[in-house]
Amino acid sequence: MKRIIAIVAALALLLALAGCSANNGTKETTAPASATTAQAEGTKTDTPEKASGSKALVVYFSRTGEQYGVGVIEKGNTAIVADMIVEQTGADSFEILPKTDNYPTTYKELTDVAKEEQNQNARPSIKDTVQNLEQYDTIYLGYPIWWGDLPMICYTFLESYDFSGKTIIPFCTHEGSGNAGTQSKIQSVVKNATVKEVLAITGTDTQKDPDSVKTTVTGWLNGSK
Ligand SMILES: Cc1cc2nc3c(=O)[nH]c(=O)nc-3n(C[C@H](O)[C@H](O)[C@H](O)COP(=O)(O)O)c2cc1C
Repeated sequence: MKRIIAIVAALALLLALAGCSANNGTKETTAPASATTAQAEGTKTDTPEKASGSKALVVYFSRTGEQYGVGVIEKGNTAIVADMIVEQTGADSFEILPKTDNYPTTYKELTDVAKEEQNQNARPSIKDTVQNLEQYDTIYLGYPIWWGDLPMICYTFLESYDFSGKTIIPFCTHEGSGNAGTQSKIQSVVKNATVKEVLAITGTDTQKDPDSVKTTVTGWLNGSK
């Protein structure tokens, strides 16, 4: 019973947080700017990757275990979206995994650890490294919204490589905060990269209605809203 009360309290807190963060004035689901521009010019309607002729990498962080609104999941919400992008673009992929995985698999405990990391402005170590990041011009970067921000381990990733001249196309999953202003948060770290608008997907939809999420992802990749 205590455990149920604790989970309900955590959800209430998150929803309150979501309410605050949702009003950041940024559109929740938008096409990458390059694709929109190409359409506006009436020249190209291809994916951002194909349109620029570049080589793409899908990088993502995502958790399995107990998750908001979906119970215990075997594949993380963001991982589902990442796989859709890989499938449709043929891009390579890289999962951000913690070097030492201290993240709890119970939701309430995970929110506590994540909050602590955020309070400490932590930079959790990442298990592996991307080989030859230089070969990629376009990086799709996926993450769950944690406490109105990127998980801190994503900042570790962004600070670990030189993204100068590259294009970062973010996508996130969330439960009400939308993109939580993460486009500018990413841009503030990778000053010499182009950071596109964030595709924001409701996390529970990836588990409960993957077909509609796939339609959204396909439309986004093709430059439509
Ligand atoms: C630690 C933690 C913090 C969260 N904070 C927020 C939040 O601030 N706003 C929000 O909308 N959702 C929040 N959520 C919900 C997640 O963003 C959502 O469930 C997401 O789809 C999880 O993705 P994943 O399965 O790829 O890890 C949070 C979830 C966790 C575990």
